[in-house]
Amino acid sequence: MKSHTLLMPLDMHLHLRDGVMLENVAPLSAYSFSGAIVMPNLVPPVENKEDVIAYKERIMAAVPNDSFEPYMTLFYKNYDKAFLESVADEINAIKLYPAGITTNSEGGVSSFDIEEMRPTLQAMSDMGIPLCVHGETDGFVMDREAEFMSIYELLASNFPKLKIIMEHITTKEAVDMLDRFDNLYATITVHHLILTLDDVVGGMMKPHLFCKPIAKRPEDLDALLSVALAAHPKVMFGSDSAPHPQHKKESCGCAAGIFTAPIALQLLCEIFEQFDKLDNLQAFVSDNAQSIYGICPEFKEVTLEHRPFTVPSDYNGVVPMYAGETLSWAIESVD
Ligand code: NCD
Ligand code: ZN
Repeated sequence: MKSHTLLMPLDMHLHLRDGVMLENVAPLSAYSFSGAIVMPNLVPPVENKEDVIAYKERIMAAVPNDSFEPYMTLFYKNYDKAFLESVADEINAIKLYPAGITTNSEGGVSSFDIEEMRPTLQAMSDMGIPLCVHGETDGFVMDREAEFMSIYELLASNFPKLKIIMEHITTKEAVDMLDRFDNLYATITVHHLILTLDDVVGGMMKPHLFCKPIAKRPEDLDALLSVALAAHPKVMFGSDSAPHPQHKKESCGCAAGIFTAPIALQLLCEIFEQFDKLDNLQAFVSDNAQSIYGICPEFKEVTLEHRPFTVPSDYNGVVPMYAGETLSWAIESVD
């Protein structure tokens, strides 16, 4: 049987939530990933040192001993340098959300006044703290990411030494930015390597395929595939796995977010194999992220096998992408 081994897979954009949901989903990521950049959009968001330390402890308590490294982040605010110096050892990045653009982003940035942001961004640049950005405007839903490119330009050119990570990119416009600015990087989800808007709303509406940013056009999908499959050194896998309880997804007013953590590696094998690029998957799911973030995760070896795997209907009330469907790769062992 055909198998494929991945070393120290990393998920560079993960929502673990808190409380009962954290206890439910954290072990699923810890099983197959060595570590993850953990998103801070709790209610209230993670925005001080005590919050970061306490949240990290809750994550560690929710996963089997030493099996998983949570790389912590703060919710972006115009922090001063002294504060950043005091918290730098506890975090791997700061995550910027435009206000109101996605789940739990109400306290995000409402205007991109570079001069107001300069002290914080310059300090982050000097201290080597990456800025992760949810790059969407509040414009027409299909244009939100493309409209945000001018803000990326502004950020990248004003802070040329600041590592800026365009999170969960979904458009050709964002892919093109990678080669225009040395300091722009990107994460790509697994669902955005599969879906277009047609899959979400072209037939019956699929709430479990609904997320922000929404999946775009076929030409955007092609552009994302081209850099992911080539393991472009500036792109990393970040699932944006975003669990919501079933009743929040299957309701009028469906919450944005796709739950993929337990099926991500299986799906990635399927995609990379389909394009005969399995050899590039290691760089996409770990090596690029290690170089970009300068991290060195604990050893973990995940072996997948080419055999049918039926996705569970739910994980304690959280419905994953492709629930009940059969994938062509399964996790065989984790050492
Ligand atoms: C995320 C969530 O549910 O927290 N939702 C989503 O659709 N991706 C928030 C986010 O990352 O935008
Ligand atoms: Zn996210």
